[in-house]
Amino acid sequence: MKRALLPAVVLALSMVVAAPACDDAPAGPRASTGPVRPPLRPSPEQQAAARALLTGPDWYRHAVFYEVNVRSFQDSDGDGFGDLRGLLSRLDYLKELGIDALWLMPIMPSPFADSGYDVTDYRAIDPVYGTMADFDRLLVETKARGMRVFMDLVLNHTSIQHPWFQESRKDRTNAKANWYVWSDTNGREDIACGTHSSIFGESPWTFEPARQQYYFHRFYPEQPDLNYREPAVAQEMLDTARFWLEKGVAGFRCDVAGLLFETATACSLAPETIEYLRSLRRVIDSFPDRATVAEPAELTNSTPYFGNGTDMFHMAFDFAYGYFWGIAFASGDRKIIEDAMTTASGYPPGAQNALVIGSHDVPRAWQSAGADPARYRGAALLQMTMRGTPFVYYGEEVALRPGTTALIDLRDAARTPMTWTREAPNHGFTTGTPWLPFGDAAAATSVDAQDADPESMLAFYRSLLAFRRGHRVWGTGASRVLPVDDRAILAFVREDEGERYLVAVNLASEARGGSTQGAGAASGRLVLGEGTLTADGETTRIQLGASGHAVFELRP
Ligand code: NOJ
Repeated sequence: MKRALLPAVVLALSMVVAAPACDDAPAGPRASTGPVRPPLRPSPEQQAAARALLTGPDWYRHAVFYEVNVRSFQDSDGDGFGDLRGLLSRLDYLKELGIDALWLMPIMPSPFADSGYDVTDYRAIDPVYGTMADFDRLLVETKARGMRVFMDLVLNHTSIQHPWFQESRKDRTNAKANWYVWSDTNGREDIACGTHSSIFGESPWTFEPARQQYYFHRFYPEQPDLNYREPAVAQEMLDTARFWLEKGVAGFRCDVAGLLFETATACSLAPETIEYLRSLRRVIDSFPDRATVAEPAELTNSTPYFGNGTDMFHMAFDFAYGYFWGIAFASGDRKIIEDAMTTASGYPPGAQNALVIGSHDVPRAWQSAGADPARYRGAALLQMTMRGTPFVYYGEEVALRPGTTALIDLRDAARTPMTWTREAPNHGFTTGTPWLPFGDAAAATSVDAQDADPESMLAFYRSLLAFRRGHRVWGTGASRVLPVDDRAILAFVREDEGERYLVAVNLASEARGGSTQGAGAASGRLVLGEGTLTADGETTRIQLGASGHAVFELRP
């Protein structure tokens, strides 16, 4: 079913950062010397250091994750849908890129009213993606490569076609009668937020003739909310988590984790929800070296998702950066990013920020960058050097462009198939007809086209990830934003165990320079990007090209 609907945030973002002319050439003047690009591969010493950092319970703080839209990644059987065997065939590509862990978008059986976020069986694999044996093989093959797998755990709602709902909707007395949120009226005083409007903008109440009652759905009508006040529901979902953990998944990306319990006062993270999430954490902690990442409902502050730092989520997405960085570049003002970093610096000890520049929910990063590769690179550099764990959305490494076809909703623009080869019509994704047409510039964004080109986005990503690899400083080192007197220049210092770096990005589309106090260094050696850093006593001056970026290794 095609929908014109999409979450308000996606709509807002596509309006604010609407792409200007689609020109691959970076705008404005560039500094005269060429950019410094670190090697495409990490050194053996870095690899050894990475192995140590990625061992033990803190592995996720030093990992680079990759969000895989399995349906769009690689088809193995010509039906036009990506699948697990296709993903298996691309593990070496991901390993070589520098990826340590995969987050798979939902692969459980689903009628696909919301891209799999409407599940009909929590303990099975949708046949379109393969079998449980294929999934088990994925666990074995990722492990053999030192990689891990996160599942997407959709706790808040099921599919309308889930057998639980099919039973619940029949009458008011069946065994599952209380598993969903029912009401005699299309609104309930004891449910705050979403009483009148769902997250997708329609009424969140849909009438069920058999029961002569309305059911509550914060998302599409095909996604009825589970009732967590029913103990059997609460238990069932903890058991679901245990089921996948026993199989060997490394953890979960928890969909809209704050919304589980409906209450009269809280929209999100009601006290009952917090209590429940703590019990989920206890399940996670009963397995060694597992982790979770929360999808917060709030866009600007993920602090409450960490609890005391060790009793709720290990990580939470930083949407303040992840969804809004394009606005900072478009306005040439660092405030949005600086505020995001300040908020993250207030997280409780133990919390780990999860950093994105795009996802299946928002426009492609290419669009957020206003189709400017220099901005795009600056945003990716920030994602990889701000304190936290980066999550690369599939295809970002080749700057996949947005598509134009909306099968489910407008978010499909960011869910188009991966482009592996230049050759139209199927670009190595499938031998059949792709379930969703490719995005723009499919040949130019193919892995083949970029593989051997040292100037390509793929080369940039490879060298950026190689640069980062095995250095504790990027995942967990201290972070300090510098008060540069030009607001277009975002600069911060990262330090840990004798390593000190200054990262600087120019958010303006012309060359800019600015001064700051407090960098605490006499000199800086340019190790990535292009620009100059000069120190004069306490003052440090940073000069960058149009939308330019640079990383300097600082010396006392
Ligand atoms: C968040 C997911 O990221 C989004 O794609 C989905 O529509 C909603 N949760 C509902 O599950």
